Amino acid sequence: MSQRIEKILHAEAELEAVAARLAEVVDTGIVVYLRGPLGAGKTTFARGFLRGLGYTGIVKSPTYTLVEPYRFEQINCYHFDLYRLEDPEELEFTGARDYFNEASICLIEWPEKAAGLLPQADFDCSLEHHEQGRALTLTACSTKAESFMLHAFPD
Ligand SMILES: Nc1ncnc2c1ncn2[C@@H]1O[C@H](COP(=O)(O)OP(=O)(O)OP(=O)(O)O)[C@@H](O)[C@H]1O
Ligand SMILES: [Mg+2]
Repeated sequence: MSQRIEKILHAEAELEAVAARLAEVVDTGIVVYLRGPLGAGKTTFARGFLRGLGYTGIVKSPTYTLVEPYRFEQINCYHFDLYRLEDPEELEFTGARDYFNEASICLIEWPEKAAGLLPQADFDCSLEHHEQGRALTLTACSTKAESFMLHAFPD
């Protein structure tokens, strides 16, 4: 079981649009891993996703605070950037454990920095530099994620 899409996004706005489309169809209780080297577009994906949920403010990577909460009427969305996580125990101090629940959506940059401490991903979003743009591979890793993906990107 794995549903996967691959896309070349030639501009930031295109990447945001794909992420926003995904956000429009998902339910709460999902975890999205955002992978790829520095500058690959992970925060751009998170920004697009938050826009898709209806957020209109500024979205920056929470590099020093590790996590930024965004609260909506029906949904709590938590954007993690674990790049500077030195000791996996630091994650505990952020209260992160409470954020992984059925009422939330968690977007996690640099999940590999907290390997073994995070819930499994529903979506694995991998970004790479591709000429002037970015190559996105989005994989649905759970049954519910597969159905959201088919709904968001039917063809
Ligand atoms: N599809 C795209 N085409 C071209 N440039 C893009 C695209 N997506 C994002 N960018 C640009 O890449 C730069 C870095 O993006 P972003 O901050 O999202 O990367 P990141 O993966 O979060 O980096 P970090 O690892 O430092 O957190 C930004 O200047 C952004 O405008
Ligand atoms: Mg980032």
